[in-house]
Amino acid sequence: LSKDTYKIKRGNFASLTDKDINVFEGIVGKTRMLTDVSDVEAYNVDWLHSVRGSSQCVLKPKTTEEVSAILKHCNERRLAVCPQGGNTGLAGGSNPVFDEVVISTSLMNKIISFDSLSGVLTCQAGCVLEQLESYLLEQGFLMPLDLGAKGSCQIGGNVSTNAGGLRLVRYGSLHGTVLGIEAVLANGEVINCLNKMKKDNTGYHLKHLFIGSEGTLGLVTQVAIHCPVSPKSLNVAFLGLDSYEKVLEALKSSKKDLGEILSSCELMDRTSIQAVEENLKLRVPIKDCPFYMLIETSGSNSDHDEEKLSQFLENALEKNIIVDGIQASEPSRIKNLWELRESITQGLARDGYTYKYDVSLPQDRFYNIVEVMRSRLSSLPVLRVAGYGHIGDGNIHLNITSKEYSKEIMNNIEPFVYEWTSKFGGSVSAEHGIGLKKTGAVHFCKPPQAIQLMHQIKNVMDPNGIMNPYKVLPAINSA
Ligand code: FAD
Ligand code: MLT
Ligand code: ZN
Repeated sequence: LSKDTYKIKRGNFASLTDKDINVFEGIVGKTRMLTDVSDVEAYNVDWLHSVRGSSQCVLKPKTTEEVSAILKHCNERRLAVCPQGGNTGLAGGSNPVFDEVVISTSLMNKIISFDSLSGVLTCQAGCVLEQLESYLLEQGFLMPLDLGAKGSCQIGGNVSTNAGGLRLVRYGSLHGTVLGIEAVLANGEVINCLNKMKKDNTGYHLKHLFIGSEGTLGLVTQVAIHCPVSPKSLNVAFLGLDSYEKVLEALKSSKKDLGEILSSCELMDRTSIQAVEENLKLRVPIKDCPFYMLIETSGSNSDHDEEKLSQFLENALEKNIIVDGIQASEPSRIKNLWELRESITQGLARDGYTYKYDVSLPQDRFYNIVEVMRSRLSSLPVLRVAGYGHIGDGNIHLNITSKEYSKEIMNNIEPFVYEWTSKFGGSVSAEHGIGLKKTGAVHFCKPPQAIQLMHQIKNVMDPNGIMNPYKVLPAINSA
């Protein structure tokens, strides 16, 4: 898939020459430049194995200065580039489409400072999320975001996709927690907006332009992020429910009864869990139900928190909101329960091809799209139509799997899924971004004037269009 499926023509960029290779070698040295086809392969293909580019060159800078020198050269030569972090993105944004030079941040992995008074961590963009989490845990803090890809994704990638994840319901989005950013523009200019103060109203908040712009406006080199104190007590409840109406009741009472200690509220339907059971051999510790919820609390007093969660469970059972449920406080049991939720992406991927939709919808409409899709696709060779996601934030992941990619299935999903989402005031990309795959869907959420302004911003920051071309921005006439 890729350029043919998405009907993309190569932009008017230069092609890589031996001279360019020599310049790059002068900047990063031989060992941090990959040009061998087999070495470059992994950077050309996405996590889902759904898109493939044909880059011939991967560069691995270690410093902002090296990124700046690379981009300056690429801009002067009009060589297109594709920034890449952990390559776990799910919208086809992290891979080249044609022969873009890949700039991998994987060696930009230094923690620069941590202030235990303010909780502000400053680090390079290539730090892996899980490593930052371990570092912070030793200091009694935690990252304000958590996602199933934490073992590979990098903070620069997280910021560039404005990743949501499992803790957003508690700590909010990266637009709030990221305090400052250093980024390099297409022409090599370093924009140091590495503010570390929680409050800073000194004109336009330029950091927001880099958060969620998926490498199209610049390459993020450093991040300052506000980290909360690590909770003293962590509890998880795993619930079984027999209808979506009951899920909504459980959501309401979790917010009401658990209040300030609620830190995650996740939904999984039976189909999602079956993918994990069948393809990854994990076991659900409660009886089979049409829906499951994982509710996590984080607080400072274990007696208080455990009692609150037990009370919530008791009430939910008494009022027949849930049909089964368990509670865990020990780290290993908590980990096992979280594994069920976090492995769904992998479980579904094992089916073959995943058609992935990540939409925001009003909570009362949240699950309808899964049911509508099931009936719409019933005569086609799909393996599963699954719904799971961050119900606390109104973000559902609708995933359809089939043995292999089928144009007929795709044509029955798109644009219908986007039209439906837009009709109910939802967003066609809640957290995964637009990448390559969804540029044609932006107009369902943004008016033509807004799309035009996006193009104007792009032109100011990257006049030659070398930064991650073919991504995010819809064609101007699709508005
Ligand atoms: P990449 O995939 O390498 O890149 C993503 C985009 O950012 C690309 O457009 C790339 O060009 C750009 N980019 C990367 N680094 C930089 C940089 N330094 N400067 C400029 N641009 C850059 N996402 C969620 O939001 N919530 C989830 O809960 C979640 N769970 C996931 C679970 C699994 C198992 C998987 C595989 C993915 C999940 N994702 C989730 C998607 C993905 O992990 C996130 O989008 C993540 O933030 C991407 O980080 P990365 O370092 O892998 O970036
Ligand atoms: C998740 O919530 O599990 C992630 O966003 C990944 C996915 O949608 O599969
Ligand atoms: Zn998600």
